[in-house]
Amino acid sequence: MMQIISTVAELRLALNNKSNTGFVPTMGNLHAGHIHLVNLAKQHSDCVVVSIFVNPLQFGVNEDLANYPRTLEADCEKLKAAGCDIVFTATVREMYPQMTQTAEGTQLNQSMTIQPPDIANDLCGASRPGHFAGVATVVAKLFNIVHPQTAFFGKKDFQQLFIIRELVKQLNYPIQIIAGETVRETSGLALSSRNGYLSDAKKQQAAQLNQALQTIAQAIQAQNFEFDSLENAAKTKLNAAGWQVDYVTVRSALSLLPATPADRHLVILAAAKIGNTRLIDNIELSL
Ligand code: PAF
Repeated sequence: MMQIISTVAELRLALNNKSNTGFVPTMGNLHAGHIHLVNLAKQHSDCVVVSIFVNPLQFGVNEDLANYPRTLEADCEKLKAAGCDIVFTATVREMYPQMTQTAEGTQLNQSMTIQPPDIANDLCGASRPGHFAGVATVVAKLFNIVHPQTAFFGKKDFQQLFIIRELVKQLNYPIQIIAGETVRETSGLALSSRNGYLSDAKKQQAAQLNQALQTIAQAIQAQNFEFDSLENAAKTKLNAAGWQVDYVTVRSALSLLPATPADRHLVILAAAKIGNTRLIDNIELSL
C-alpha cells in the first residue's frame, strides 16, 4: 500500500525503521522520465520515497512558479502503478515553516541556504540567478528529512546533477547519487514537465534543440574540435528557426568548464526558449 504523507513528522515516523531507502525528489507533473527514476530506485532500495514539492526558492521572480503544472492526483496514480512506497507531498509552509505572508507577497525567510560552487552561476545559473542555491537548499532539507541511502536524479538536468554530486561530496552526505538517462519522445525531444506548455506544432519543432546537439556530437566524433564554430553554427540555426537561444556549449563532463580538445568526456548542453517556454537538453560524449 502506497502511503501519501504531507508532514515532516509523519514522514520521519514512517521511515523510522527503514535502512535502505531510495529517494526520488520531484516537482510533480510526473512523466516517463520520473517513472524511470522510480524504477531505478526500486532496483536499489527496499523502500522508495518520492517527494512532490514545487520549490519556490528555486524560481526567479519572473519565472513560472504560479503556472507550474500541479497534477497531484494523476501523479499519485502513476506512482502507485510504479510501486512507490511513500509519496511526500509537503506544503510550502511545511518545508519553510518560518515563512510569512503579507500584502506584498510570500517571504520564505529561509536565511540558512546552501551556497553552491561557482559553476552554479554559469550555464542555466547565468540567466537564473539563485536557482541552484534554491535547488541545493531544498535538496539538502529533503535529504535531512528522508535520510535516504540512495537518491536518483535525471541526466536531463545535467548541471543540477553536477551540483547535487558536489553537495553530497562537500557536505559529506552518506548518500549514493544515481543518475537516470534522459527519456525522450521518438522525435528526440527530452521529456520535461515544461513540454506541457507547448502546442502540438511547437512540440514537433522543439525536437530541433536535440537535433542541434546531435549535429555537434557527430561533428566532434568526426574529429572536428572547433567547438566555438560548432556552437555558433548551432545557435545561428536555432535562432533562424525562431528560437531564442540562451546557450549552446561544449563542456568537459567532469568539470562543466569549457571543453578543450584534450578532454575525452564531453557534454554538449543547450538552453533555449521556444515562445515563452524555456527548454534544456544535453548529450554526453566519450571519445
Ligand atoms: O529537478 C527537479 O525537479 C527539482 O529541481 C528538484 C531536484 C526536485 C528540487 O526541487
